[in-house]
Amino acid sequence: MSPAAPRFGAQNPARLVVLISGRGSNMQALAECCEREAWPAHVAAVISNRPQAAGLAWAAQRGIATGCVDHTAFAAQSDPRAAFEAALREAIDAHAPDLVVLAGFMRILGADFVQHYAGRMLNIHPSLLPAFTGLHTHRRAIEAGCRLAGSTVHIVTPELDHGPIVAQAAVPVLPGDDEDRLAARVLRAEHVIYPRAVRAWVDGAWWLDGGRVRHAPGAADDLWHFSPRP
Ligand code: GAR
Repeated sequence: MSPAAPRFGAQNPARLVVLISGRGSNMQALAECCEREAWPAHVAAVISNRPQAAGLAWAAQRGIATGCVDHTAFAAQSDPRAAFEAALREAIDAHAPDLVVLAGFMRILGADFVQHYAGRMLNIHPSLLPAFTGLHTHRRAIEAGCRLAGSTVHIVTPELDHGPIVAQAAVPVLPGDDEDRLAARVLRAEHVIYPRAVRAWVDGAWWLDGGRVRHAPGAADDLWHFSPRP
């Protein structure tokens, strides 16, 4: 596969649908970059699986379409996960997304759902993958004695937190760090790296080739970030 010609412009901006479960600060960073830097892209909708997610209120206040598909509402169905994912897919596809952006979306997604968005769904995971897939990444990094921690933007594949890596940010683990301090440092780096990864996708500056991400000349330089010791 080779790089595609840029598909998006001012007249046909990329439609980003962002999935959140809570605070939504990565979604905010993305929406703000889109606006401030006049990207040929916009956040078409923000959808949560939790009605009380703070990010939903922020998005609504900015005039961004919002939606909620509450996963707890499907508990009585014979296959609650399948029913939830069918409803979620419908809610997302109503906004005709070019790219689905998971930003602190805390539900594991099944293979059929992932397949439907194959190659056009990104996630940000708060570790330097392939280390520390799953939960409690900061606590596990501290307990393992890591000197560096960070975050990874990757393409979503059916295997949790294992898809091809698009971008990474590294931060130091400092003496006296606890989970919250480290999480805050990683989050600041996420707000740099996630918008860059999405912008580079919009610009056609990276693409998937045989399970690996390839970059246009020079484009890879924007897709890593290192926060030096404060
Ligand atoms: C972020 O740190 C993100 O990497 C993490 O949740 C946080 C969401 O923050 N995602 C995961 O753990 C996914 N497995 P935000 O709601 O402020 O963007």
